[in-house]
Amino acid sequence: MASAAATVSPFTHLVHPSPTPDEARRMILGAPGFGTAFSDHMVSIDWSEGRGWHDATIGPRRPIELDPACAVLHYAQEIFEGLKAYVQADGGLALFRPEANARRFADSARRMAMPELPEELFIESVKEIVRTDREWIPTVEGGSLYLRPFMFASEAFLGVRPAKAYKYLVIASPAGNYFKSGAPAVSIWVSEDYTRAAPGGTGAVKCGGNYAASLVPQAEAIARGHDQVVFLDAAEHKWVEELGGMNLYFVFADGSLVTPPLTGTILPGITRDSLLTLAREEGLEVREERYSLDQWCADAESGRMVEAFACGTAAVVTPVGKVAGRDGEFTIGGGGPGQQTQKLKARLVAIQRGEAPDPHGWIMRLD
Ligand code: PLP
Ligand code: COI
Repeated sequence: MASAAATVSPFTHLVHPSPTPDEARRMILGAPGFGTAFSDHMVSIDWSEGRGWHDATIGPRRPIELDPACAVLHYAQEIFEGLKAYVQADGGLALFRPEANARRFADSARRMAMPELPEELFIESVKEIVRTDREWIPTVEGGSLYLRPFMFASEAFLGVRPAKAYKYLVIASPAGNYFKSGAPAVSIWVSEDYTRAAPGGTGAVKCGGNYAASLVPQAEAIARGHDQVVFLDAAEHKWVEELGGMNLYFVFADGSLVTPPLTGTILPGITRDSLLTLAREEGLEVREERYSLDQWCADAESGRMVEAFACGTAAVVTPVGKVAGRDGEFTIGGGGPGQQTQKLKARLVAIQRGEAPDPHGWIMRLD
């Protein structure tokens, strides 16, 4: 585990002239929701050909000015990450598996022909913002500080080639529940007209374009009264892949679990990976195996499949109660949170919040 003392901070600290008043911040932290409010600071680091990474600063969060020819506005050369900082049971602060986010950010950069941010600098940047904006972590149940590191092509140039200048930023947003409905289980809509990612495409990395392409099917899901869209594979339109922003698990009556395999079209979720480990530790059999929509429907009806859940940093572990598609809908188990889902969620959350031992070294403490 990286120790804070081992690094000399390369960041210039700029003083905020007018941070949010305490009372206004307390109001926000009382009902944080997801992605609507932001802390006072941001990290910024630039990259240019010849100079490499430079000008690392942490200062007031403010609008950024872009040239209208800025490459990201035309060709979407952009990547991002999502991770959370938690208040621990003893009052300290911690990040959950930030090395995994740093690695995935570098993987995303390579796929999008962008320079890799050194993993230590990624970790230092997220630590900087959490230390600076520690008062922005909500203490309501399920609260955390959601961190959004991202990078985009900042060169003003309209030719189609990798840009020669980039900006890396980190912003932070107090977070509660991702789903507004607060329902015990979500309802998902199977998109049979649109796919998220094709073999050889960018489905396995976290680039903004993947999410832009998911907005029409996601809006369709909402318009039909569901919470999220679930995508099938692009080649056969048969295999269940993942939701717009979460991975999926299926729980069977025999106690085993299945999650779709990482074939290159699915985002390798850090929550997904953590749950693979935790479920196996519980003695459960977990298979990374393709699962078809038809089989899912048949298994829900026969009672062979009894629970399903979505997982991700924003959604944590969210039970799926209902699945609907062009040909009708089916309910999973009793339509509410299943026992195995709740147990796994509790195990994960206890580690993230420092309420349970951390045998895998997933927690990186900040103090
Ligand atoms: N799948 C997609 C498409 C996502 O956007 C996310 C969220 O980051 C996930 C899965 C879950 O990944 P993680 O658990 O690393 O947050
Ligand atoms: C996350 O869970 O961090 C995500 O990025 C999902 C979504 C908010 C895009």
